[in-house]
Amino acid sequence: MSINRFDISIEKKLLPFKKDIEVDADKSMSIRSFLIGSISNGVSFTKNVLESDDVLSTIKCLKKLGVKILKKESGNYKIYGNGLGSLNIKRNNSLNFGNSGTLARLLIGILTTTPNVQIKVKGDHSLNKRSMKELINLMSKFGANFFPKKKFTFPLKIVSAKMPISIKYFAGSSAQLKSAVIFAALNSSGNTKIFELERSRNHTENMLMKNSQTIKIKDKINNRSIAIRGKQYLNPINIDVPGDPSSAAFFTALTLLNDNSKLKIKSVGLNSTRIGFYKLLKRHGAKIKLKNFKKINNEIRGDIYVESCKIKPIRASKKYYVNSTDEYPILFVIASLTKGVSVFKGIKELANKESNRIKEMQNIFKQIGIKTVAKGDSLKIFGKEKFNTNHKKIYVPNLGDHRICMSSFVLAVMTGIKTKIKNFETVNTSSPSFLKIIKSLGAKYEIQK
Ligand code: S3P
Repeated sequence: MSINRFDISIEKKLLPFKKDIEVDADKSMSIRSFLIGSISNGVSFTKNVLESDDVLSTIKCLKKLGVKILKKESGNYKIYGNGLGSLNIKRNNSLNFGNSGTLARLLIGILTTTPNVQIKVKGDHSLNKRSMKELINLMSKFGANFFPKKKFTFPLKIVSAKMPISIKYFAGSSAQLKSAVIFAALNSSGNTKIFELERSRNHTENMLMKNSQTIKIKDKINNRSIAIRGKQYLNPINIDVPGDPSSAAFFTALTLLNDNSKLKIKSVGLNSTRIGFYKLLKRHGAKIKLKNFKKINNEIRGDIYVESCKIKPIRASKKYYVNSTDEYPILFVIASLTKGVSVFKGIKELANKESNRIKEMQNIFKQIGIKTVAKGDSLKIFGKEKFNTNHKKIYVPNLGDHRICMSSFVLAVMTGIKTKIKNFETVNTSSPSFLKIIKSLGAKYEIQK
């Protein structure tokens, strides 16, 4: 989406800082608010949304599918929903999901059970490499077909189910797959039952909560399930999106690792399914406090207070993966600059993100002499607190991965190693204010167009 490509060069270490900041709004919630508004009956409102490339791709796709979406003012939108099954496919239409796996999987969930869909879909060079196999297998159970057969990456053609039927699904760590099943189920005949084996992010469920005619959620420790009665209606929504805890993670890491620094990050989404990163770091001695909680639209938000400090090497068992999925690249950076051996287990899904995040982060560490060992679905990082930066350089190629770009930026300003990050514009998919915020904390960088 971002047509203005640019690279970033960094060669200076960051000085101490003390600041209050606000980060960009939550990407997962912003995308969901447009999708759910579009299939609800009536006018929905969403405010303080993230106006990033992934969200703009969402708005563009929905408009192509006949949904009226009006921008009232910066970040505030009115969505004119026409109900379940109402998305309208014009002949020879095609959709481009850009860089967004969330948009791709969730919108395909909706299209799977929208009548008479025959549409070509694709993404950018990063998304076109990601496997859609699990999604395709699941949507096929509802009766959809994907062409060519046995191809599991975009571009693809989707033909929706003729007579969509409900399914039973045991959901694992992927919130995208769980949400795709919820969306497909909303317009299927019968009752779909989802049993949650892991507690992945639940923003879709929270936004659909006020629809007891169609969705019933059990959230007990030994009984987490979602029951959906299809072919009902959805009440319009009115959403206020908090700051993105995944964007806040980069500035949290920066503060912890830097000398004599303090940061307050205001009004961040602190839904318990999203704060694995903060809990994990606190367990290892990080000076992080989450305070001033407020609940809006079934979602908790609050302020994050961070102070510089040394932490113990990180031991992250598999159970942390689901609630800190997107924070692993920056966790790896923290581990690389923390003396001792850190171990991350149960992380195999990281290979199918915007890039192969295990392999690409290992490539970066190798360039500066930080040893890592990947085995099975785990990664060991042999962190160093101090190391010789002479003659060392970091080069990050064009991976189309916003989180690798931001993680490398943090690594660069923490070490002062001469760094070049290609195609930094990809950060606009999730965090368009990243450079502005990091500059306000004192970071020095150069932009090359
Ligand atoms: C997301 C779910 C996660 C996450 C992604 C956003 C969502 O993906 O990595 O950035 O909004 O549902 P998976 O469901 O593939 O784990």
